[in-house]
Amino acid sequence: DPIESLAGAIADAERVVALTGAGVSTASGIPSFRGEGGIWEQFDQRDFHYRRFNADPGGFWRDRLDLRDAFYGDSEVEPNGAHHALAELEREGYLEAVVTQNVDGLHAAAGSETVVELHGTNREAECVECGRRLPAETAFERAAEGELPPRCEGCGGVLKPAVVLFGESMPDEPTIRAHELAGRSDLFLAVGSSLQVQPAAGLPARAQRSGATLAVVNLEATPLSDRADYDLRADVTELLPALVEALE
Ligand code: OAD
Ligand code: ZN
Repeated sequence: DPIESLAGAIADAERVVALTGAGVSTASGIPSFRGEGGIWEQFDQRDFHYRRFNADPGGFWRDRLDLRDAFYGDSEVEPNGAHHALAELEREGYLEAVVTQNVDGLHAAAGSETVVELHGTNREAECVECGRRLPAETAFERAAEGELPPRCEGCGGVLKPAVVLFGESMPDEPTIRAHELAGRSDLFLAVGSSLQVQPAAGLPARAQRSGATLAVVNLEATPLSDRADYDLRADVTELLPALVEALE
């Protein structure tokens, strides 16, 4: 049984690091980017580009509001079994950290303590001039009331969601931490990610080069599936809780 076997490898490993992608949050009602029903089937990726934000921040926020209404409406987004299982693995001492490409904050909401957010967080907005942060909710409310773009109350600068946009460079600190974690890990668990977007997609390879066992858990094949030690095509909301159970 591959789950038993992976559980055994996790129990034997000293430093287990997980990398998560949009696939861990789809069961919470957050659409993935690629694949069926993905965001890019309905929206134009170019509208969310950093260049577009700079050229037309008001239009950018308007499109961002539309995207939010289309996908979330008023519904509360809550962590699912996959997030809870990863938090449990950390509590039980099996997991050192979660490195995530997601911006939804659901790992922390589920109780994960060491979370490296590679692409920032959509729970906040920040001023491009002075860096001041505020809840994204506040910025969205002001945009919805016609303040396009919403501006910083401190310095009047334009506000931007505190996430990494396409074409924007990644913040240094989480990127460096993620590479350190990957390089030091002896078991690397990539879950719910298409592993197509750099630099996150380079982390599993980095871990493997340093001798780590690589496990990929995803509904469909990824570019790294062939060279993974464990290639589990499964729903993460079923597989991760099963893994926790197997470790008990
Ligand atoms: P993707 O949308 O590219 O990939 C999500 C993967 O999860 C797909 O391969 C799905 O098949 C799989 N999947 C969906 N639901 C699943 C489930 N319940 N169980 C198992 N697998 C499931 O998302 P990411 O790899 O996270 O960047 O994409 C990486 C980055 O691309 C994002 O962070 C975003 C985007 O451009 C930025 O916004 C900067
Ligand atoms: Zn400011």
